[in-house]
Amino acid sequence: MHDLLQIGGITDPMRDRLKKAFTIHKLDDGTYPADTITHIATNGHDGVPADVMAALPNLQMISCYGVGYDAIDTTSAAERGILVTHTPNVLNQEVATTTILLLLAVYRNFLHDEAYARSGQWEAEGNAPLSRSVDGVTVGILGLGRIGQAIADKLTAFDADIHYHSRNPKEVEYTYHANLVDMANTVDVLICITPGGPATNKIVNTEVINALGPNGTLINVSRGSVIDEEAMVAALQDGRLGYAGLDVFEAEPKIPKALKSMPNVVLLPHVGSATIETRGAMGGLVVDNLISHLDSGRVLTPVPETAHLNP
Ligand code: NAP
Ligand code: 8YV
Repeated sequence: MHDLLQIGGITDPMRDRLKKAFTIHKLDDGTYPADTITHIATNGHDGVPADVMAALPNLQMISCYGVGYDAIDTTSAAERGILVTHTPNVLNQEVATTTILLLLAVYRNFLHDEAYARSGQWEAEGNAPLSRSVDGVTVGILGLGRIGQAIADKLTAFDADIHYHSRNPKEVEYTYHANLVDMANTVDVLICITPGGPATNKIVNTEVINALGPNGTLINVSRGSVIDEEAMVAALQDGRLGYAGLDVFEAEPKIPKALKSMPNVVLLPHVGSATIETRGAMGGLVVDNLISHLDSGRVLTPVPETAHLNP
C-alpha cells in the first residue's frame, strides 16, 4: 500500500476505490507520515500549500479534482519531477450550461420575476417589468479553450454573434480580437473563461469594464482573480457597468457585501461543474490518474507544465 495525502474532501466512491490501493491520510487531521507520502489527491480550490509540498521528500504525483490548477505550484512540481494531473473535458458541457444559466438569469430578470410571482406582487401590482432578449446577442469569450468552445457551441442556439480574445487566434469562424479592450467595446456580453494565475490576474480591469459599458454584461465562470473585483463593484455601483453574472470570486467563499444587494447581479457559489453527474466523472478521473500512476508510472491527463514527465 502506498501513502496518499488527501487535501480537502473526496466523495465516497472516490474513497472506496482509493482505499484499495492507498493508505489515506487527511491533511486536516494534522499528522501524516511525511517521509512516505508518494501521492496527493486535492482540488482546484485547496491546491497544495507550498509548505506541505516542501515537507514531502518522496512525493511523485498530485491529482487535482478540477481542470483549473492555479492553486498548485506546477513550476516547483516540475522541477522536482512530480507529475500533476487535472480533470479536463469531462466538465466542459456543465460549465458551459452554468454560463448560459447565468446569462439567461441576468438578461431575463429571472430572480426578480420568480420572486415577483412567489411573493404575490404580480397579483397586487400587475405585470412584472419587461426584461431583455438574448437572441442575437453579441458575445465576447475571453479564453476560447475547451470550455470556451463549449460555451460558443451552446450560444449558437441563441444565434449569438461570437467574438473571442486569447493570446493566440484559433482555427474558428468567430471574430478574433488581439486586444481585450477592443473586444469589450464591441460586445454586449463578456464571458471570462481563462485559467487563473499570474498571467490573467485582473486582466479584466477598469479599462475593459468601462469599454463594456452601462448596457454591458460581465459573466465570470473562470477564477475571481481574472477580474479586478473592486473595480467591477465600483463600476456596477455607479452605472458604468450594467450587469454581472458571477460564479467565482477573489476570496471565496467570501463575496463582497455590496454585490449581495445589487438587483442587476446574479451570484452563484462556484457551482460551474457542480452536478452529481459531472462531479462523478471528475472524481472518477482523479482516481483513474492515481491508479494509472501506481500501475504504470503513466497518467491520463497531466497538466501541460508536467506533461514531459509522463513516460
Ligand atoms: P483551456 O482549454 O486551457 O482554455 C483556456 C483558454 O484561455 C485558452 O484558449 C487560452 O488560449 C486562453 N488563455 C490562457 N491564458 C490567457 C491569457 N493570459 N490571456 C488571454 N487568454 C488566455 O482551459 P479550460 O478547460 O477551458 O478551463 C478554463 C478555466 O475555467 C480553468 O482553468 C478554470 O480556472 C475555469 N473553470 C471554472 C469552473 C467553475 O466551476 N466556475 C469549472 C471549470 C473550469 P491562449 O493560450 O491562446 O491564450
Ligand atoms: C471545481 C473548477 O469546482 O474545474 C475547475 O477548475 O473550478 C471546478 O470545477 C473546483 O476545481 C473544485 O475545487
